[in-house]
Amino acid sequence: MKIKITFVLWLAGCIGFVQAEDMSSALNAGFKSINQVGLDRLEQDPLQAFCSKPREESGDAAVAAELRETAMASVVLPGNGDYLGSWERGQQVANNGKGLQYSDNPEEANGGNCYACHQLDPAEVAYGNLGPSLTNYGARGQSDVMLQYTWTKLWNTHAYNVCSHMPRFGAQGILTEQQLKDVMAFLFDPDSPVNNLAE
Ligand code: HEC
Repeated sequence: MKIKITFVLWLAGCIGFVQAEDMSSALNAGFKSINQVGLDRLEQDPLQAFCSKPREESGDAAVAAELRETAMASVVLPGNGDYLGSWERGQQVANNGKGLQYSDNPEEANGGNCYACHQLDPAEVAYGNLGPSLTNYGARGQSDVMLQYTWTKLWNTHAYNVCSHMPRFGAQGILTEQQLKDVMAFLFDPDSPVNNLAE
């Protein structure tokens, strides 16, 4: 009986392995490297690999805590301690839909595509809702703690939520320090449309 169970487990393991192999060859055959988009995107870093596991395996609290700490350690706060740039430029960064796509000109700066996941300017009708609404974000407070939390979230979202679906804008060099400051101003500046709700 024991031998039979071992055999069945071995066979199941082999099938799993073959499926994983098929999957990666199908991905490699199906995707092409175009401009700045390379097949290296199919390789997962340790965090992505951890978060792609079934929940019962990824539920390892010690590994999750370690990954969160690594993410927190990656955060670089603005050199001069000044978190806020120009909301007008930040609006462009949040809404221009550019960045890391094969059709984007690699010479041009990336955008943050924030509106694809968040409601920001209440007048914007086309926005995604994978993330929470950030409309009136500035009303949540302008304290140093709030500024640092938001900067950290933008720099490396995994510092707070290990399997977050938000891009790592600072840690992966998607946005520059200045662009991050501009997006911060778009979120916090009292004159930004984000904080100007229609009566
Ligand atoms: C692919 C989707 C996606 C994109 C693009 C995205 N976000 Fe997020 N964001 C999320 C999700 C999902 C959450 C909530 C879950 C979490 O914490 O990860 C979140 C959370 C946040 C929070 C924390 C809100 C709170 O209540 O604490 C802020 C601030 C934020 N995002 C700002 C931004 C900004 C600014 C951009 C663009 C530079 C952006 N996000 C781009 C998905 C996204």
